[in-house]
Amino acid sequence: MFLYQILNLFYVALQKEEDSKHDLSLYKRGDLLEVPRTLFTHFGIYLGDNRVAHLIPDILPVITKNKSAIAKMVTNNRLLLGVITKVASVRVDSVEDFAYGSEILINHMDKVCSQPPLDGDEVARRAEKLQGSVTYSLLWYNCEHYVMYCRYGMAISYQTYKFCTAVRKIVCSRMSAYLTALCGIGTMLYLGCVTSLTVLLTVLISFTIWMAA
Ligand SMILES: *[C@@H]1O[C@H](CO)[C@@H](O)[C@H](O)[C@H]1NC(C)=O
Repeated sequence: MFLYQILNLFYVALQKEEDSKHDLSLYKRGDLLEVPRTLFTHFGIYLGDNRVAHLIPDILPVITKNKSAIAKMVTNNRLLLGVITKVASVRVDSVEDFAYGSEILINHMDKVCSQPPLDGDEVARRAEKLQGSVTYSLLWYNCEHYVMYCRYGMAISYQTYKFCTAVRKIVCSRMSAYLTALCGIGTMLYLGCVTSLTVLLTVLISFTIWMAA
């Protein structure tokens, strides 16, 4: 699954960005905007006047103090490094920079969420108040928690829930039991490689724990 996401990242990075124009008259203050972005769906809150508040992982504030460089659109490389190092900030961008060349869904979450949305002005005020940097965790606090808190008053993530369910399915499936057994046999057969395999596993497990924390 992670490998797939990395491949997808390179695929998207290679694609030419579309020159899509967004019709600003479609958006109201407090609307929840949703775009597909490399690692997951990305969410933001529309503030009015072509401004979108969103929580996005970004490595740049860590490595430079140059404000004009940071204010530029967050590229996929900045985003990925931000995810890995767990730095993110709530920032305000134009609709175009927020969308990063994708189509935008409006208030799609209203149909999925059991809670009715708060008043649009209150939603936008919450979104504005949280500007600045936050620690970002892929599973426990992400862009979705941020908008869920702003629009519905509760910080939950549907994607995290789905991800956990998927992981549980994989772990519990019979296939993974067979695979584990096969790996064990393979390990015994290639006893010479055991050391490097152990190192690889240790790195993978540590990385997973770091990302999940
Ligand atoms: C800051 O970034 C901008 C845009 O990337 C660049 O033009 C400028 O030279 C940089 N300034 C400094 C002091 O590095």
